[in-house]
Amino acid sequence: MDKFFINGQNRLVGEVKMDCAKNALLPILAGSIMVEGEVLLKNVPLYKDVLAMIEILKNLGAKIIWQGKNLFIDSTNIHKCEISHELASPVRSSIFTLGPILARIGKAKVAYPGGCNIGLRPIDLHLQGLRDLGCKINEKNGYIYGQKEKRIKHDISLKFPSVGATENIMMFATLFDGETRIYNPAKEPEIVDLAKFLNKCGAKIKGAGSDLIVINGVKKLHGVNYKVIYDRIECGTFLIAGAMNGGELVLKNCDFTHNLVLIEKLRSCGCKIYCEKGKINIIAPKKLKSFGEIETEVYPGFPTDLQSQMVTLATISKGRSLIFENLFESRFNYVAELLKMGCDIKFKSSVCVVNGKDNLYGADVSATDLRGGASLVLAGLVAEGYTTISNVNLIERGYFDFDKKLKKLGADIKRI
Ligand code: EPZ
Repeated sequence: MDKFFINGQNRLVGEVKMDCAKNALLPILAGSIMVEGEVLLKNVPLYKDVLAMIEILKNLGAKIIWQGKNLFIDSTNIHKCEISHELASPVRSSIFTLGPILARIGKAKVAYPGGCNIGLRPIDLHLQGLRDLGCKINEKNGYIYGQKEKRIKHDISLKFPSVGATENIMMFATLFDGETRIYNPAKEPEIVDLAKFLNKCGAKIKGAGSDLIVINGVKKLHGVNYKVIYDRIECGTFLIAGAMNGGELVLKNCDFTHNLVLIEKLRSCGCKIYCEKGKINIIAPKKLKSFGEIETEVYPGFPTDLQSQMVTLATISKGRSLIFENLFESRFNYVAELLKMGCDIKFKSSVCVVNGKDNLYGADVSATDLRGGASLVLAGLVAEGYTTISNVNLIERGYFDFDKKLKKLGADIKRI
């Protein structure tokens, strides 16, 4: 298994371009199951999770062609409706295929999903929504068996605005006859991008990003050329890396409106941040002040996917910081690794208290999950001496060329 090897305390300076959003690409790949025609996704980064989803599509019978970083998917001749445990268990996004397969084929047999170990990650809201629409859904021997039946309801109301459940139900409803209304849906930019993609394929979806999504079922979806939005979590990760490093970065291929809460927090720590269309410029102070408190919330609140990066920033900021993780019940696993680097962190269930230190020191650590792993890289970049990070494959689920991008900015990082 590859490792990252970092010699810390180099300042990060320069320009870095963001890649397309992992959490928009994954549901769009699932949605392409419903398209009878060729879908071209431009400039697709080779996230490990994307590669896993492509294996799932191939297994269902879709034709996949890469041309450089352009990805062609043709699901016209999809004929299978089963996803095995081997294919489904490595990623959370395998569950996003349930709605599309049911919509397109009429029946499905999908093994339970996997995903980062940041909590139980149930799928009850996904299944309840599909049942409410009339699907027959049974769970047996680690598989979900689905059968499309006659519509029962038009109104689905989510007891929690789950991103994945919103995506699954919205995709199923795209080809389901009649009108479907989803109340209390997730409003993340990735939901809006998925709806934009499906509408470009001929779907009739209104209100994505608002409190009510209305879908009118169509018979068929046609092929499309599409460019997915940029990754707001990669963007946030680089902003935090620059802030921690006393760095001066220009981020390109980014939409600052997707990171307004983070930008305000980093300004409160003493960073100067200038935003314009497609570009963010951050100039960090020598020493950060604590941001005080952060509560993770659904969009547009502070994103849970940037929680571990902000805890890491707090470990070298002046003063005490409090971080409340409200979305996932065990998203502090990476803290045990940070403690090896001399951080002063205490946490109890969903609250983390951090007392800032003058600096951290390098150590041998291992990534526990995708964002926790990225946070260990950020810690290694500021720590005194050498840091080795193992389980790099977890980090590469959602960061493409992470070490190369950091090296270009002046970090002393290499893959071993
Ligand atoms: C998506 O996961 C993202 N993953 C996650 O990003 C992200 O952290 C999360 O949304 C929240 O923004 C992808 O898009 C592939 P949820 P998802 O359903 O859909 C509970 C990353 O680092 N819940 O909004 O699984 C659940 O337990 C990853 O890129 C149920 O109770 O998130 C959690 O507490 C990590 N029942 C909360 O809702 C359900 O049926 C949020 O989950 C579904 C979810």
